[in-house]
Amino acid sequence: MTTDWSPTSWHDFPAAQQPQWADQAAFDAVIGTLGSLPPLVFAGEARRLTADLGKVAQGEAFLLQAGDCAESFDAFSADGIRDKLKVILQMAVVLMYSSGVPVVKVGRIAGQFAKPRSADDETIGDVTLPSFRGHMVNDIAFTGEARVADPQRLITAYHQSASTLNLVRAFTKGGFGDLSRVHAWNQEFVASSAEGQRYEEVAAGIERALQFMAACGVTTESTPQLHTVDVSTSHEALILGYEEALTRRDSLTDEWYDCSAHMLWIGERTRQLDGAHVHFLAGVRNPIGCKIGPSVSADEVLALCEALNPERIPGRLTLITRMGADKVGERLPPLLRAVRDAGHPVAWACDPMHGNTFTAPSGRKTRHFDDVLREIAGFFEAHRSCGTWPGGVHIELTGDNVTECLGGAEEILDADLGTRYETMCDPRLNARQSLDLAFRVAELLRP
Ligand code: PEP
Ligand code: CO
Repeated sequence: MTTDWSPTSWHDFPAAQQPQWADQAAFDAVIGTLGSLPPLVFAGEARRLTADLGKVAQGEAFLLQAGDCAESFDAFSADGIRDKLKVILQMAVVLMYSSGVPVVKVGRIAGQFAKPRSADDETIGDVTLPSFRGHMVNDIAFTGEARVADPQRLITAYHQSASTLNLVRAFTKGGFGDLSRVHAWNQEFVASSAEGQRYEEVAAGIERALQFMAACGVTTESTPQLHTVDVSTSHEALILGYEEALTRRDSLTDEWYDCSAHMLWIGERTRQLDGAHVHFLAGVRNPIGCKIGPSVSADEVLALCEALNPERIPGRLTLITRMGADKVGERLPPLLRAVRDAGHPVAWACDPMHGNTFTAPSGRKTRHFDDVLREIAGFFEAHRSCGTWPGGVHIELTGDNVTECLGGAEEILDADLGTRYETMCDPRLNARQSLDLAFRVAELLRP
């Protein structure tokens, strides 16, 4: 990055999607407080993730990035975090076992609290209020009081991120992620389903392999790669004041890292080349993602690659495509060819969620499982036709038994959506749909 970058230099650029804070002085005070609090992650961890994602960019590994659309201050529990981790670990095992490809695991977790919105305001009847922008900003209830952008929420988001991350570290490093526990990740309500049974077969195969290895003298306890698992954190770097406050200079390299998460991404609504989000993330050394939707041109994609990864470091930039199932076959190949021909080492991931959202007749925002699968299949097809590597998937899911997305083996119908529709923002795949998706992706990945 040029020498005129600093954690505050984004202030000189137009920043889309920033809330109107009710009290600017209180906001400034909060940013000062956050700046004095400890970093949530360390630069060395972010560097390790860049190296892992470099393998994705080079076609040697697959990225599974998954979690909530928006984390909630209300639905915050150890069980919820554990169950989300279980699904991510199950999906990773299915993908690795069936394809033999290493899986890089990144959660949309421990910081995913801010949402970009298509409109600044929401109108119901004759009342118009500011839109809900995620719990880092305001509350979802449709009252004037709830919708006030309250800077104290940034502090709450920081502390919830810290305790979530603490639990993620404990679960992944403290024995829960040990490969011999592969059966225990199957939740009861999943285990009884067809997907759960299929998973049990994979788990039994792994168990047999572990018994064989133990007989050879290699146990999970004695092998760190089998005893612990790496799950990194990520969120959309939307509220730039928050990201600025958590950006710290690494004492080893003297470089800037945004220590609010291992990986940060730029959303489809904030990827303007001359905007503050691209400027800010160009200057931190974390691995970063950038969403690209159906309206992006090949020139814009190349300019984003130049702006965000001028040194062409593999793993530094993941392009997360979200074209929609009907458009991916037409829109993606020209982008893949342009990036390939320019020699940019990009990791490509498919977000099959955000281009396939619609409002069902019941009035609920939803997605159909078949559209999600169709976009992933189109993504693989586009990569195969261009000779590029379909590097990963980016999924909104929960470990709970919710009814938010239509279809899947349970055949959730519009009439069922009300049974357990709990998301604060976009509809998420439930645990069974997520596991089913992992099996389908594994089939596409198999050599
Ligand atoms: C999201 O990931 O929740 C999101 C808002 O996506 P996008 O920026 O692709 O619209
Ligand atoms: Co979303």
